[in-house]
Amino acid sequence: MRFDGKVVAYLNRCVHVPTEMDWQPGEFLDSAREFILCSIHGAAYDPGSGRCVAGPCGRGKLTMLHVEERDGEVYWYPSRDTRPVSP
Ligand code: FES
Repeated sequence: MRFDGKVVAYLNRCVHVPTEMDWQPGEFLDSAREFILCSIHGAAYDPGSGRCVAGPCGRGKLTMLHVEERDGEVYWYPSRDTRPVSP
């Protein structure tokens, strides 16, 4: 997602229960577009850091993906924990 003009990416998995968080496909932000909200129990995360700010996610933090925007394209760099699914 783009937040404050910067591309940020997180694994779509809540810290509370490891499930997808979007309340509509691809929709993660609250109505004020200030927080990432989990659709299951309402955990709120700071879009800039992925840190839990309210709700049942405690002191957790979303798994940040390494992304980079260059020449109008967004590149995702796999890590030890996040790789593309093998066909
Ligand atoms: S599964 Fe996300 S808040 Fe519970």
